[in-house]
Amino acid sequence: MKYENLVLESKNRILYLTINRESKLNALNKATLEELHSAITDALNDKSVGGVIITGAGSKAFVAGADISEFANFNADEGRNLAFEGQNKVFNVIQNSKKPIVAVVNGFALGGGLELAMACHIRIASENAKLGLPEVTLGLIPGYGGTQRLTQLVGKGKALEMIISADMINAKEAHRIGLVNHVVEPDLVLSTAEELLQKIMSRSPFAVGCAIRAVNAAVTDGVNGFEVEIQEFSKCFETADFKEGVSAFTQKRKPQFIQE
Ligand code: COA
Repeated sequence: MKYENLVLESKNRILYLTINRESKLNALNKATLEELHSAITDALNDKSVGGVIITGAGSKAFVAGADISEFANFNADEGRNLAFEGQNKVFNVIQNSKKPIVAVVNGFALGGGLELAMACHIRIASENAKLGLPEVTLGLIPGYGGTQRLTQLVGKGKALEMIISADMINAKEAHRIGLVNHVVEPDLVLSTAEELLQKIMSRSPFAVGCAIRAVNAAVTDGVNGFEVEIQEFSKCFETADFKEGVSAFTQKRKPQFIQE
């Protein structure tokens, strides 16, 4: 597929997925969401990709939200469809990816932008990042999972304050409340993400996928996470990675895991 709103690059088994609408602060329009769906689905099926970094073009914004101009005249059915399609085709696909996906938050992460970052497994923020869910200023609420994922990440009190006040917070505060994993200088944000992702990719990819599924189960309604953990734990014992991991440990060498 030819991408008009994304730039895709691959290096050292990392797929760099840059949202490239800098003049609109990388706002997520329908075409960009469709391209994100396609790029992420392809990455999941591509054995040469071990992990993904998602970021925004330029130095001002990660993503400044869903594209407001596209939904300005929507009715309730169109609104429902927008949220349903977005959640199922992009945001949930990212959260459920067995390959690690890291958000490099290099500026404004607002509305759908923060929702995108929150769907990723890990968030590395630049010191100049500003994060928020300002939808109530538009007479809306978050629709791409923001009310749920923010509550899961920072707790109900802080999530409600951010959502109903619409206030943005800076990177330091986002780190303090657990919304981002690390905050670094703008120049270091990409290399910090690469280093962490390479470390994760050096672990058993099979086990990393199992861990993601088990942790996601903790925040999935109607699922017993402890049961899921038992199933995922048990599956690991049948894998070549488990044998290799244990052999490498006893032989005091680095394990060579199977890249999926
Ligand atoms: N949807 C559509 N376009 C957007 C956008 C969005 N979410 N966020 C920014 N843009 C566009 C602006 O309309 C502007 O386009 P223009 O030059 O054609 O007028 C361009 O991006 C630059 O934004 P601008 O507002 O001029 O930059 P700023 O530095 O003054 O302000 C923000 C930056 C992020 C504070 C401001 O753009 C903003 O509040 N954006 C909307 C955030 C939001 O409500 N997101 C949730 C949407 S559900």
